[in-house]
Amino acid sequence: MAAKSPKKSSTWSGRFAEPVSETVKRYTASVGFDQRLAQHDIRGSLAHARMLKTCGILTGVDLKKIEKGLSAISNEIAAGKFIWSLDAEDVHLNIERRLTALVGDAGKRLHTGRSRNDQVATDIRLWLRDETDAIIALLAALQKSLIAQAERYAATIMPGFTHLQVAQPVTFGHHLLAYVEMFERDHTRFADCRKRANVLPLGAAALAGTSFPIRRELVAKELGFDAVAANSLDAVSDRDFAIEFCAASSITMVHLSRLCEELVLWVNPRFGFVTLPDRFCTGSSIMPQKKNPDVPELARGKSGRVFGHLMGLLTLMKAQPLAYNKDNQEDKEPLFDTVDTLRDTLAIFAELVAGLTANAGAMRSAALEGYATATDLADYLVKKGLPFRDAHEAVARAVKFAEKAKRDLSDLSLAELRQFASGIGKDVFAVLTLEGSAAARKHTGGTAPAQVRAAARAARKRLGR
Ligand code: ARG
Repeated sequence: MAAKSPKKSSTWSGRFAEPVSETVKRYTASVGFDQRLAQHDIRGSLAHARMLKTCGILTGVDLKKIEKGLSAISNEIAAGKFIWSLDAEDVHLNIERRLTALVGDAGKRLHTGRSRNDQVATDIRLWLRDETDAIIALLAALQKSLIAQAERYAATIMPGFTHLQVAQPVTFGHHLLAYVEMFERDHTRFADCRKRANVLPLGAAALAGTSFPIRRELVAKELGFDAVAANSLDAVSDRDFAIEFCAASSITMVHLSRLCEELVLWVNPRFGFVTLPDRFCTGSSIMPQKKNPDVPELARGKSGRVFGHLMGLLTLMKAQPLAYNKDNQEDKEPLFDTVDTLRDTLAIFAELVAGLTANAGAMRSAALEGYATATDLADYLVKKGLPFRDAHEAVARAVKFAEKAKRDLSDLSLAELRQFASGIGKDVFAVLTLEGSAAARKHTGGTAPAQVRAAARAARKRLGR
């Protein structure tokens, strides 16, 4: 005969003499935010229940009831009809309570051989795995926008900067492909941290494992985990995967913030390199003439909150003794906000990049301003036999002369140029043009239009199309 279920005297158990205070209830509850994990919690519970049945710990009748109940709950949640209660503290207890209300004692048996400690760790990993896949897809979409624009502007000359001073001519396509590389590294970082997130904690129970004859590998297989966490104490307390994810996200936000900064400069009329579609800009409530690059500014600003979440998680985990501590409940909000911020920013940038237009004229005249082909002249002299340091000095004097005359190097006559190095011939003018300078850099990784087209093709291939 089955034992009779005892009556509970408070929220937790008969062990408590009084109910928890309202303030403490509000303070300790996580249901306000962790309900976001509900569908993953249900998936985890289903896999757990099926394993319990396979191992003879749960009857087939109970499993059927649990499956039916969880499916009904899943629908209620999806339809927004589920009533979340602060009394049940978190997503796990809310679902379990509803299940018991729907299917009776079978619902109470679901928690056999597990704890909320291994349950929550499993839920977050399952959820983060899906989000990581979505982020990888968004990164690819942004890369595709950048590649398409790089192809369009493969031969468009702009000034390349060092120290934000005109340095050498580059092509706008080359500049855009630099970001494709950054986002490619981000992609590999997310794919890498996904591997370590994709390990199953369930079965660790509270911290020491369980006395029931469970088979964790079955649960791992059903949920698509690559492996089972090898140590139960580590399984319930580890949040490295969350920290890693926020670190990878922070680096992506650094990259986005650099693009933002450049866009803010480029759309400034003093540069006038780029025009953003109006749908990404806003006006001013007082200055009617204004068109502000709000989206890049805001995204630049949002990088701060993502870095903050990384720091928050590191601080959360620092010096925590093994194993689970309630501190860990604080892992969710930073993680959720990181995902939301990153997803929105990546999605917006894929569209924004696709919509921008370059002003080739403004880029070209800016490149003509700073003696951007001086290095080409020095290289030319080296090819004529001058040691590089001497060539550097000769060109420096030529630039000084041209600057005084307010002329570009390519505007100097052959006789004028030969004052600085007698080896200069008529063929020098081909290397002094912006186009000649860019076209000469045709090695792997160079800025030549032909190389940009080849790099864009390679990047497309890497992305699988
Ligand atoms: N809501 C809790 C969390 O997010 C679930 C685990 C609670 N475990 C416990 N022993 N109180 O961490």
